[in-house]
Amino acid sequence: MVDRDKSGETAKDFSVDVPMETPGFFLKGSAHLNWGMKNRLSRIFNPKSGKTVMLAFDHGYIMGPTSGLERIDLSIPPLLPYTDCLMCARGTLRSCIQPEIDKPLVMRCSTGATILKDLSDEVIGVTVQDAIAMNASAVTTQAYIGGEHEKATLANLARLINEGNLYGVPTLGVTAVGRELVRDSRYLGLASRVVAELGVHFVKTYYCEPGFDEVVAGCPVPIVIAGGKKMPELDALTMAYKAIDQGALGVDMGRNIFLAEDPVAMIQAVRTVVHDGEKPEKAYDLYQTLKK
Ligand code: 5RP
Repeated sequence: MVDRDKSGETAKDFSVDVPMETPGFFLKGSAHLNWGMKNRLSRIFNPKSGKTVMLAFDHGYIMGPTSGLERIDLSIPPLLPYTDCLMCARGTLRSCIQPEIDKPLVMRCSTGATILKDLSDEVIGVTVQDAIAMNASAVTTQAYIGGEHEKATLANLARLINEGNLYGVPTLGVTAVGRELVRDSRYLGLASRVVAELGVHFVKTYYCEPGFDEVVAGCPVPIVIAGGKKMPELDALTMAYKAIDQGALGVDMGRNIFLAEDPVAMIQAVRTVVHDGEKPEKAYDLYQTLKK
C-alpha cells in the first residue's frame, strides 16, 4: 500500500545537513504553541540537553503481565530516578506508582485491542480530562498508517489532539507498524509526517537504516524512538546513539531497559548516550561497571 505512489516519484531533497531552526523555544516545531503546551513539553524534554529518556511500560494494556513487567510495583520504581518521563496506562500508574514522584507522565489513552486479536483495532478509552486529573503532561495513542484500521486510528489520534488542544496538553503520536509493512525510511517517514501534519506535538517511531536522518528531517516536530524487541545491550545502545546522532530527540524505551540483565545500569547507560552524546562503546563500559 505504501508503494502505491512510488512510480513517477521524483527525487527528494531532505537537506539533512540543515537542521530546522527553533526560534523562540528549544524544541523543534514548537515555537508557536501556547504556554501550557510549552511548559508540559519542557517537563518531558530536558531544556538543557533538549532530549528525553522516556520509560515505556504500557505493554500490559495489550499483553497482560508480560516478561519484565509481571510486577510493576517491583520492577519500575528503581528505574524512576533515572527516567525523564513515564509512559504508561492509568490503571498501572494508579496502582503501582507512588504519587509522590515528581516525574512527567505520558498517558496511554487507547484500548480495545489485545495480543489475542487484532492489535490495530483500537478506540480511545481514556479522556484527556481524566489524563489531566492524573496530572499527565501528554497523552498518546498510535496510528496504524497503511493498516486496515488506518482511518480509525488516525481518528483516535485526532480526538486526543483536539481535546488536548483545549487544555494545553500535548499529544504524542506513535507510529505502529502492522505485520505486513516494512519498517524502512520510506514507510516511517510517511507515517511520522502524516501524524505530524495531523497536529501531534511529538512523534514516537522506530529507528531504521538507512535513511533515519531523512525520517527526522521530513518530520517538523521532535521524534523519539521506541526500543523494540529486546536485543543485546551494546546493540540497543548503538541504536540509541545512531538515532540521536541522526536527529532524534530522545528514546521511549521499554523492553531494552526493563529486560536488560541489569535494568538500573542500562537506563543510566542510555542516559549518557541521549543526554551527553556518549559513544555506545563507552556507554556499554559504563553499563558493565554499574552492573551488579
Ligand atoms: C507500543 C508502544 C510501547 O510503549 C513501546 O513501543 C514499547 O517500548 P519498547 O518497544 O521499547 O519495548 O508505544 O505502541
